[in-house]
Amino acid sequence: MKSVFKIIAVTLGVLLVVLVIYIFLGSGKTFDAPYPDLSASKDSALIARGKYLAFGPAHCASCHMPMDKIMEVEQGAEFPMSGGWEFKIPPGTLHAPNLTPHKETGIGNYTDQELARALRHSVKRNGKVLFPVMPFQEMSDEDIRAILSYLRSQEPVSNEVEETSYSFLGRALLAFGLLQPQAPKYTPPAAIKIDSTATYGEYVAKNVANCVGCHTPRDLMTGANIGPEFSGGFLFTPDEFSKGYAFISPNLTPDKATGVMANWDEETFINRMRYGRVLEGSHMPWGFYSRMTDIELKAVYRYLSQLDPVENKIEKTVFAPGEALPE
Ligand code: HEC
Ligand code: HEC
Repeated sequence: MKSVFKIIAVTLGVLLVVLVIYIFLGSGKTFDAPYPDLSASKDSALIARGKYLAFGPAHCASCHMPMDKIMEVEQGAEFPMSGGWEFKIPPGTLHAPNLTPHKETGIGNYTDQELARALRHSVKRNGKVLFPVMPFQEMSDEDIRAILSYLRSQEPVSNEVEETSYSFLGRALLAFGLLQPQAPKYTPPAAIKIDSTATYGEYVAKNVANCVGCHTPRDLMTGANIGPEFSGGFLFTPDEFSKGYAFISPNLTPDKATGVMANWDEETFINRMRYGRVLEGSHMPWGFYSRMTDIELKAVYRYLSQLDPVENKIEKTVFAPGEALPE
């Protein structure tokens, strides 16, 4: 009898060791993705558009900044994007790299095509997957070129940022293929017309400002959508940035009874976005959006107002430290 248990115990032990080895080897895998044929330019209009995107709707500067500068930048200060934002989540600790043209610590040695591939195909220069926090896969060719042009125009800043590190859970997600590079869902447009139409609003809300990423119910492990787009309900658990507060994103669809902005007219919406942050610790990059142009805000309003209404009552969006969170 004893020897049977021994055999079972040894077998389980061996399987466990094999599993751990599999996870450690599998989590180091690299990916192939095409290098988009997109390059930076010295054109001043393009550089200005790139800067507008980075410090406005696309809010690159809300993450690619040292932690102690983020709130200043939110309020309008401008610094080169020398990286440093750190985000601890169960799969690991994400570190936003230095995006200034510094050779040793920034993107000075990256080619434009390597940077464009990172944005469009979520594959890092070293071939590893980029953790899905940058939903720019369908950004237009022209906007990617604008961003590359702005990145190259910055002053180089020496700031060594640690690589993103994965926990055992994160490594398991990588090894079992649950964390994969995000490819574009369709061929991104070469350029997009900037006007106040719902078409442009959709582009901003989904492919630039990522309103959809936070205002849609999602699986916290894989990032997959688990409910209708823009219907709210994404839970932000307390972290260092939120100072212990938790948040739930409200429903942005035009459902009269449960949509937070269903009874707002265009002016109310624009005024709210311009006003900026009310709640300290909210993950929404309010200050960045407050710098969006009228045309862009109108376009987003038009787009959100013509969505199918989804009934989803979000009772409460803010929870004080220690307060019980809904299931
Ligand atoms: C929500 C925070 C956030 C925003 C917004 C954001 N980034 Fe990132 N970025 C990160 C993090 C975190 C990483 C590292 C992820 C990883 O290591 O898997 C990263 C990685 C990168 C890389 C990886 C380069 C490489 O090959 O290693 C590039 C390029 C980049 N970001 C550019 C941008 C640009 C351009 C924007 C705006 C258009 C932007 N990011 C917006 C957080 C962000
Ligand atoms: C990083 C996550 C995140 C992103 C991106 C984001 N939001 Fe939010 N949003 C939240 C959270 C969390 C709240 C609730 C806390 C608060 O009001 O700050 C919220 C609240 C709101 C509110 C209600 C404000 C009020 O005063 O009641 C509106 C309107 C809104 N978001 C619109 C947008 C739009 C439009 C975009 C894109 C341009 C966007 N959000 C992008 C997370 C996000």
